[in-house]
Amino acid sequence: MKGIILAGGLGTRLYPITKVITKQLLPIYDKPLIYYPLSVLMLANIRDILIISDKENIEKIKILLGNGEILGISISYEVQEKPRGIAEAIIIAKDFIEDEFALILGDNLLYGHGLPDILRNTKPPTIFLYYVNDPKRYGIAHIKEDRIVLIEEKPKRPKSNLAIVGLYYLDRFALEVASSLKPSKRNELEIVDVLKAYLNEGKLNYRILGRGFTFIDCGTFDSMLEASIFISTIEKRQGLKIGCIEEVAYRMGFITREQLVELSKNYKNSGYGEYLLKIVRES
Ligand code: DAU
Repeated sequence: MKGIILAGGLGTRLYPITKVITKQLLPIYDKPLIYYPLSVLMLANIRDILIISDKENIEKIKILLGNGEILGISISYEVQEKPRGIAEAIIIAKDFIEDEFALILGDNLLYGHGLPDILRNTKPPTIFLYYVNDPKRYGIAHIKEDRIVLIEEKPKRPKSNLAIVGLYYLDRFALEVASSLKPSKRNELEIVDVLKAYLNEGKLNYRILGRGFTFIDCGTFDSMLEASIFISTIEKRQGLKIGCIEEVAYRMGFITREQLVELSKNYKNSGYGEYLLKIVRES
């Protein structure tokens, strides 16, 4: 399966901090935000990844992640000229997509025990759902008798508090649907319209990520701060990092012990390199 990270958008909801840099490059505690969705795809055993961002930020992301070779993966890049909606990413990725793919939003943080197994054992088309206190902020799915009966984007009066996580397991059918979509009232190609098409075909599966999981959409000042505090709390408590892409590459067998030692040399002064050496010593 291939993977797509959508890491563009205007970021105006986070102005002025996103005026010169996209939020996916801003820190969540000790790493750029994009490391978290990237590590999710890597944990799903996805090694062929396309990153989509705007013209300016794509160059910065390239400096950070390059072609992925040092992580034992392949990263390619495409530009989204304007933020015309999440579903547009699927159209932009048309030459990259073969059949099944995972699309993840660059500002989504996902964490929980057993998540890697779920990621590896789920087949498209599937969406992931998460109980939230503020469903108006999300796409939501309403479940009745174990079936999705309704999908809505940011409803004023939500019928459910199950948010649709920004990780979508889809296939080529999504490309067909996205290509025929018309922009919504807010002038975007809506990902929920793609999901509704699957639903109409009776094909859409779902998995609920329950209380043992953390899903944070880092789209507001508060959620960025909360995510940073969450990561810092767990990392300090356990001495293990979350979203450390070099560690994930090593544990997934994408790179060797020697390559991890080499990578650690890039981060001598921040403690990050010392952490990578600790992983080498303890494994
Ligand atoms: O986080 C989960 C939610 O993400 C879902 O529940 C919603 O159904 C989905 O629409 C989305 O809602 P958001 O309000 O969080 O979407 P936002 O416009 O913030 O875009 C999400 C990310 O995708 C963000 O990092 C910016 C990026 N993006 C967005 C659009 C619309 C792009 O790169 N290009 C775009 O055209």
